[in-house]
Amino acid sequence: MRWWTLTTTLFGATAFLAQAAPQDKVAAKPGGDDGKQLTFSVRGTHKGKPIPKDEIKIKPYTFSRSRPGGGLQVWPDDEEVKTSRHKKVKRANPTANSANWCGSVQTTPSTHQVEVVHAYYQQPSCTLRSGVTTYPQAVAPWVGIDGDSSTASLLQSGTVCYINNSTGVSSHEAWWQWVPAAAYTITSLTVSPGDWIEVTINTTSATSGEITITNLNTATAYYVSINSGPSLARVNADWVVERPYYGSSLSGFPEFSDVWFDDCYATRTSGGALGILGAKQYQIPGLCASQEYDNQSQVSWSL
Ligand SMILES: *[C@@H]1O[C@H](CO)[C@@H](O)[C@H](O)[C@H]1NC(C)=O
Ligand SMILES: *[C@@H]1O[C@H](CO)[C@@H](O)[C@H](O)[C@H]1NC(C)=O
Ligand SMILES: *[C@@H]1O[C@H](CO)[C@@H](O)[C@H](O)[C@H]1NC(C)=O
Ligand SMILES: *[C@@H]1O[C@H](CO)[C@@H](O)[C@H](O)[C@H]1NC(C)=O
Repeated sequence: MRWWTLTTTLFGATAFLAQAAPQDKVAAKPGGDDGKQLTFSVRGTHKGKPIPKDEIKIKPYTFSRSRPGGGLQVWPDDEEVKTSRHKKVKRANPTANSANWCGSVQTTPSTHQVEVVHAYYQQPSCTLRSGVTTYPQAVAPWVGIDGDSSTASLLQSGTVCYINNSTGVSSHEAWWQWVPAAAYTITSLTVSPGDWIEVTINTTSATSGEITITNLNTATAYYVSINSGPSLARVNADWVVERPYYGSSLSGFPEFSDVWFDDCYATRTSGGALGILGAKQYQIPGLCASQEYDNQSQVSWSL
């Protein structure tokens, strides 16, 4: 196995540029370098064989701090999921509005911490939403740990569909972030709309873990090992489609094809596991809704 080690400074320049959006629950703290280092190593495989180190390409990404927010609401009883997969499903999950999160969050007591969170989904296509004056437009599905009831840090990995503002052309990338450290994108992992992406985040402690992100269509997997991350409470398991920040502002949110997270589960340090059943559903008003489908699946869709 070949490993490539990179080091970046925690609280890096891009990490805290965002202002808290009105719906954010907790104001983002301004930066301040505490001198800690986030060290990680990356390896990759293609069809099970190691990818040579010089073919593994990683660069810092420009996402900024990522937060949900908003008060609890009750999903109307007569609301229906409007997707091709199923036309009539009613769920009574608690819901909450957010400026930037659309998806499911499970919360577990600190005596039953989240150890592993998993899902796969098909990379959405995205197209410019007309009438939107905020650029660029981007949509980012991911799975992660924390960031909701525990806002000190958030370990997350997924993909993004990003629309180039000047050309209108969308591009697709895989990335991970251990907030508040900066995000990274794996530029050597090709992602196309419709590809099945599998993400597993496996923590070995509050500050260490391994992210596996696999493009199942190309049989290419990347493994990111981190040993000194910002301490996680490990009380939230997240399956989210995000309207990301780029630098200091929320991106425009494009229209995108439905994102079904499948085989969703979170294992816990105490044993036992969580699925989607009963998860809180974050919605981005006017832009994105999400719904539990069953214990393994949830869908987030463009409004
Ligand atoms: C957008 O596309 C143009 C033309 O291909 C390119 O020069 C530019 O770098 C792209 N912008 C971004 C942010 O990728
Ligand atoms: C992005 O494109 C829109 C539409 O062409 C334009 O109004 C806007 O000023 C552009 N924004 C940036 C940052 O280039
Ligand atoms: C998580 O990591 C542990 C320790 O390396 C390993 O035993 C376990 O199989 C992993 N679980 C998953 C779901 O990858
Ligand atoms: C929901 O899924 C989790 C994770 O797979 C599982 O442990 C749990 O038993 C399931 N709950 C029900 C009610 O099926």
